[in-house]
Amino acid sequence: MEIFLDTADVNEIKTYVDFIDGVTTNPSILAKNENADKRSLIKEICKTVSGPVSVEVVSEKYEEMLAEGKKISKISSNVCVKLPCTFDGLRVCEKLSYEGISTNLTLCFSPTQALIAAKCGATYVSPFVGRMDDIGHNGMSLIEEIIDIFDGYNYETKVLVASVRHLQHLIQAAKLGAGAITVPPKILKQCFDHPMTESGLKIFAEDWKKLKSH
Ligand code: E4P
Repeated sequence: MEIFLDTADVNEIKTYVDFIDGVTTNPSILAKNENADKRSLIKEICKTVSGPVSVEVVSEKYEEMLAEGKKISKISSNVCVKLPCTFDGLRVCEKLSYEGISTNLTLCFSPTQALIAAKCGATYVSPFVGRMDDIGHNGMSLIEEIIDIFDGYNYETKVLVASVRHLQHLIQAAKLGAGAITVPPKILKQCFDHPMTESGLKIFAEDWKKLKSH
């Protein structure tokens, strides 16, 4: 499973760069760097990590979105153009895929959106599990359903579990065999932490001191 970091914080990306396969951003995530120049920030992120960096369009209509997507794709060779799972977004996806530009179809909330994204040649489709949970649905059931559908075909589209809120989302995504996941830094950090590892280390260090050294 590819693991992406869901952030535009270059320091966090540098901290975890050895463990991640890429980065995902969205307009809200980028806006956390209030005074930054958008293009320079995206370029810096693309230099910091070698894998795909998802950068989202903000246009909503086909022609504008297509032009914006092409412009974004030129920022760096590892940019992945993030498009919404709308009628226009999926049309743009089909066009960009045909031109060999990688895409991440975002704001996916249904199996049918995912199916159309795959048929349009999307590189990734991002179902938002946390936001599904927020409205009383089961986000991970959506992942299961999409993977089940994709399993019957040879689509190259990877299911990228997004809007991750806790470690169980990550564990369940791995169990279901999702192709990718994007996690905020605070959740990735939890993958390394366990109180038993900490206490075990402490015991080993104390016991080691009891030995004589020559
Ligand atoms: C990633 O591609 C998404 O933009 C992100 O995971 C959304 O997460 P949120 O629902 O916590 O904003």
